[in-house]
Amino acid sequence: MDVFVSGLMQKMTIEEKIGQLNLITPGSDIPTGSVVSTDVESKIKNGQVGGMFGVIGPEKIRKAQELAVNESRLKIPLIFGSDVIHGHKTTFPIPLGLASSWDTGLIKKSAQIAADEATADGLNWVFSPMVDIARDPRWGRVAEGSGEDAYLGSQMAKAMVMGYQGDDLSKNNTVMASVKHFALYGASEAGRDYNTVDMSKLRMYNEYLPPYKAAVEAGVGSVMSSFNVVDGIPATGNKWLLTDLLRGEWGFDGFVESDYTSVNEMIDHGMGDLQAVSALSLKAGLDMDMVGEGFLTTLKKSLDEGKVTEEDINLACRRILEAKYKLGLFDDPFRYIDEKRAEQSILTAENRAFAREAAARSFVLLKNGKQVLPLAASKKIALVGPLANNNSNMLGTWAVSGNPQLSVGVLDGIKNVMGADVKVGYAKGANITDDAALAKKANVFGERVDIDARSPEALIAEAVSLAKDSDVVVAVVGEASEMSGEAASRSDIGLPESQKKLLAALKKTGKPLVLVVMSGRPLTLEWENENADAILQVWFAGIEAGNAIADVLFGNYNPSGKLPMTFPRNVGQIPIFYNHLPTGRPFEENSKFTTQYLDVPNEPLFPFGFGLSYTTFAYKTSQSAAEMDVQNGIVFTAEITNTGNFDGEEVVQLYIHQKVGVISRPVKELKAFKKIMVKKGETVKVDFTLTVDDLKYYHPDLDFTYDPGVFEFFIGTSSDGAFTGSFVVK
Ligand code: NOJ
Repeated sequence: MDVFVSGLMQKMTIEEKIGQLNLITPGSDIPTGSVVSTDVESKIKNGQVGGMFGVIGPEKIRKAQELAVNESRLKIPLIFGSDVIHGHKTTFPIPLGLASSWDTGLIKKSAQIAADEATADGLNWVFSPMVDIARDPRWGRVAEGSGEDAYLGSQMAKAMVMGYQGDDLSKNNTVMASVKHFALYGASEAGRDYNTVDMSKLRMYNEYLPPYKAAVEAGVGSVMSSFNVVDGIPATGNKWLLTDLLRGEWGFDGFVESDYTSVNEMIDHGMGDLQAVSALSLKAGLDMDMVGEGFLTTLKKSLDEGKVTEEDINLACRRILEAKYKLGLFDDPFRYIDEKRAEQSILTAENRAFAREAAARSFVLLKNGKQVLPLAASKKIALVGPLANNNSNMLGTWAVSGNPQLSVGVLDGIKNVMGADVKVGYAKGANITDDAALAKKANVFGERVDIDARSPEALIAEAVSLAKDSDVVVAVVGEASEMSGEAASRSDIGLPESQKKLLAALKKTGKPLVLVVMSGRPLTLEWENENADAILQVWFAGIEAGNAIADVLFGNYNPSGKLPMTFPRNVGQIPIFYNHLPTGRPFEENSKFTTQYLDVPNEPLFPFGFGLSYTTFAYKTSQSAAEMDVQNGIVFTAEITNTGNFDGEEVVQLYIHQKVGVISRPVKELKAFKKIMVKKGETVKVDFTLTVDDLKYYHPDLDFTYDPGVFEFFIGTSSDGAFTGSFVVK
């Protein structure tokens, strides 16, 4: 590779080298910013483009690649990227949903299938995984990540990178992954997208950086810089971040691309004019400029003026060419372009079957009073709600290549699963929202919220009369798919008023009330939790949503998902997460000067790691020793007995707490988990081995070491457990 790339670079003019650093989008598919590229064809021919995104499908990609390899002077192939976030055309649940499966094998396979379909569609690079730790559900982009926990997030990051990239990037069914958004984007102040981030180095290293590092360790080929500042300097132009940390400390050897116009946005961050921010970014270690063309239009001038060196440009150019080499594009620029494969391997029955399984496994049962679920086949069901018979919102945010019309809605799913004779009546009951201004914002990528011609009162009346005539009400409620995702922050994360009114009216009928909640974020569901009999959180479940929801409602699959993010009672509790530090004034009942709110408990509505099953599990825990062996660690064993009436899967979770540390340590930390199947009446044994490596953390001098001392632990069904034992480390 070195010889090849060096040879090629010797032939390149400085303009051609700068051209490789330019990533453009013609904007024919979904652009995610206000700027799109112009003169695409002539730029490719002139060697002014290194890669493209927003061009999908073998025909279009072939055309663009032909321009590059037949009509540009040095015939350097283009790299073709896309936002393949949760599946390509076979859309899987949104990433927060996939993370709720706590099943790394399933997540890896979802990435493999996504890679297979994306490459069949001509692509070789995906802008995924998004691994931003997020503790603020007002931020709409929590939908795209794996939630609040660094350990869980790191496992998910690794699984996705391995799934996308496989063991050989040059195979025609693997893609280069791009971990994003580097770094700390999930800590946007007040949960408002694109906002400022500020945090201590200790919090960065211990709580926010681990998933990016895990992706790098898994061999991710590229990294996307984030929009936000890190320690005052925008990530895209932050040398400490992109060079010292990423390449120096972590040994990353791929390339870094900016986010959409994030180089240009540094002007608004107050870092100088386009020439200055472009030079700053290149010098910081940014290799590819997405859409903004600051590199293309100013780097030559900066070189002439001595503001960047030829060496700076060579380094970035080399990294891009190396990526193309690893993808096998110099061997065959058309290796990912095969019209036949596109016809045969996209949206296959197998892929859809997997999507259905992934969806069912991503649902989290939050409440199941009086065992109202699973539903008996004989029951007469009133299926109501704006998302009950609605294809346009099943896929969720960032389904760039997904076709909502191919998705299965809940009403159809129930009929598919239970047969045409199932006793189900349907009424819309409410609009997703009656607020026309909000509807307009949710409808930018197509109609997701349609406001019914009938009045809200008429919609409710119809639903109530259907409910009265039924045995059980299943209300499918939540957000429109574009009410979460990028640029979709909300300050009130409850159900929209229109739907709250519907639920209040349904409650009055006295019929058992089951809620199926679709959302891209934790919602505040206090009233719903008090008043509904059952709540099934289904996120946005993807192309097979309706079938998977019916599978779970009728008990063909026993839900096993666990929350990767805390559900607050109200927005006032945010940020809220399970692994916070202790306070010197822990809450005490009837004691004024202890940590508390006057109006709401400290505890969330549903904690991290929580999720019910149709069955119940009993835990018995033991440990191999009282002291951890510094060489071999310590083994914790849990015996999990299925004490209920259904076979079921359980996510067994191990948490620890370090009692005394050099710095104050979290009240709890997830250290291991395993998803297992336990048949009714049976017992399954799970072993977890922890070693001193698992106890290491970053100290004030950023040394990664552990402290001897006493650690408490428990193994349980959610983060909300009490410590049952302890061990010593000498
Ligand atoms: C902006 C988003 O922040 C990023 O996640 C995405 O990959 C790019 N746009 C490209 O669409």
